[in-house]
Amino acid sequence: MINFKEKISEELEQIINISKKELETYIETPKDTKNGDYSFPCFRLAKELKKAPQIIANEIKEKINLENTGIEKVEVIGGFLNFFINKKVLIKEVLEGFEKQEYKDLKIGEGKNIVIDYSAPNIAKPFHIGHLRSTVIGGALSNIYKFLGYNVTGVNHLGDYGTQFGKLIEGYKLWGDEYDIDKDPINELTKIYIRINNLCKEDEKILEDCRNNFKKLEDGDSYCVEIWNRFKEVSLKEFQRVYDLLGSKFESWNGEAFYADKMQEVVELLEKSGKLVESQGAKVVDLADQGIDTPCIIIKSNGSSTYATRDLAAILYRARTYDFDKAIYVTSYEQILHFKQIFATAKYLGLDEKYTNGLIHVPFGMVLLPTGKMSTREGTSIKLEDLLNEAIERAKKIIEDKNPELEDKDLIAKKVGVGAVIFNDLSNNRVKDEIFDWDTILNFQGETGPYVQYTYVRTQSILRKAENVPSFRDVNIEKIDDNYSVNILKLIYDFEDILVEVTKKEEPSILSRYLIDLAKAFSNFYNENKIIGEEKEIENARLYLTKVVGEILKTGASLLGIEMPNKM
Ligand code: ARG
Repeated sequence: MINFKEKISEELEQIINISKKELETYIETPKDTKNGDYSFPCFRLAKELKKAPQIIANEIKEKINLENTGIEKVEVIGGFLNFFINKKVLIKEVLEGFEKQEYKDLKIGEGKNIVIDYSAPNIAKPFHIGHLRSTVIGGALSNIYKFLGYNVTGVNHLGDYGTQFGKLIEGYKLWGDEYDIDKDPINELTKIYIRINNLCKEDEKILEDCRNNFKKLEDGDSYCVEIWNRFKEVSLKEFQRVYDLLGSKFESWNGEAFYADKMQEVVELLEKSGKLVESQGAKVVDLADQGIDTPCIIIKSNGSSTYATRDLAAILYRARTYDFDKAIYVTSYEQILHFKQIFATAKYLGLDEKYTNGLIHVPFGMVLLPTGKMSTREGTSIKLEDLLNEAIERAKKIIEDKNPELEDKDLIAKKVGVGAVIFNDLSNNRVKDEIFDWDTILNFQGETGPYVQYTYVRTQSILRKAENVPSFRDVNIEKIDDNYSVNILKLIYDFEDILVEVTKKEEPSILSRYLIDLAKAFSNFYNENKIIGEEKEIENARLYLTKVVGEILKTGASLLGIEMPNKM
């Protein structure tokens, strides 16, 4: 497909003394189509050229040669040059490109390695709603990077290490028989944990035993390791049920424990760099000169390593093993300081700048119930598996009301219910807190997952009704000229750009918003245009467009982790 922005930049380069690559980054997409399809703001040039932006814009307009660009018109408004695409060129480009399935064959990321650290629940603790957001956002990013041709390693950095396991082992030793761990692993282990924690507060001797257990675990004591493995196994089995519902898959399950024997090197490297200092019995890296007030604790005063130490070992390991261009971490914004600290400390590990510059924290907001924050302490925590199952049940009720005759209701309800939860998680800017409200999430008319699915289903039912679905050869491009169709084609043209935008900002909501826009554009097209029963050439063109929209909606949704039903 023609890259209009590139074409415009090439022509601008002839006039302005700036490289076309840079010029391309100046080009914006106006919110209002009456300001054209692309606009070039001249404000940045004003200072250097010592002229008013509007004058510069007019001068460029006089000089620019748009003959082979696919642009048919340029207008000056204020300090902007507004470019208008030739609609015939657009239509032909998009449909021809689609015919060749060019949108699936993207090589933008070829040769680049991306590590995405996401989900990462903690063993023997509930998989909570924050982990759901991480799983969904990380999963979407992983899919999108892969689609663009990057080599992606999704890592589930499980919380399976730390002194709490010493306690849990002790509790298990004392009362393991009293609890039905196989039946309800995480709940039962949580009960044991709370009980042993209380006992530790009263009994110094027990606390000592717990510490010893952790030490033994670290030293590979077979009994402790065996129990710890069991905790891990039963927890993972429970987590897996959530992953199955969401369709989540990871390339690596190396959790914190994996780095147990790799932390010594971190300590040595930091010592060598001269940055590791004693502070109240602990070993810390002072980060004040990097503008971070809180030092990064590497070894606690009791000699044990920390969450940060393990993350530093993971950075070393990932740099060496995956040679990453970007290492992305998806967690709630509560961990912003933690990642600032470890990214700053990582600069003292002697790694190539390529790696330290490639570290990216992708924080997201809290999930709020209409009544306030969800948290374990206030008892408002919801078990994720229950939440997903409730979504499925609610979806099923709606489907039963709307379409009682439908076959495969259970499967469809699963796609709709789970899709609704996923879409909700991805539909707003990720750092914003999100309000979890069933009625909004499942509203078929709202800006929701079910709305996108419903629009897709509509495209499929139109295609089923058609006698035969035309292929590109049957389409007379001249017959596509109404604004509704052009709007759709413009959106289809943008698909690749949207995906690239997602990876620039690590923001999957850009794709969710796009799918809503595309679904709305299709609804307008459908409401205003007759499709079947029109004059054959028009019918063919519109059917073909319907097919294209369906395919892009389905592809886009699947990148977000949402499955499409064929009927609903
Ligand atoms: N297990 C952590 C938690 O539940 C998240 C881990 C995120 N990844 C990392 N490399 N620190 O808060």
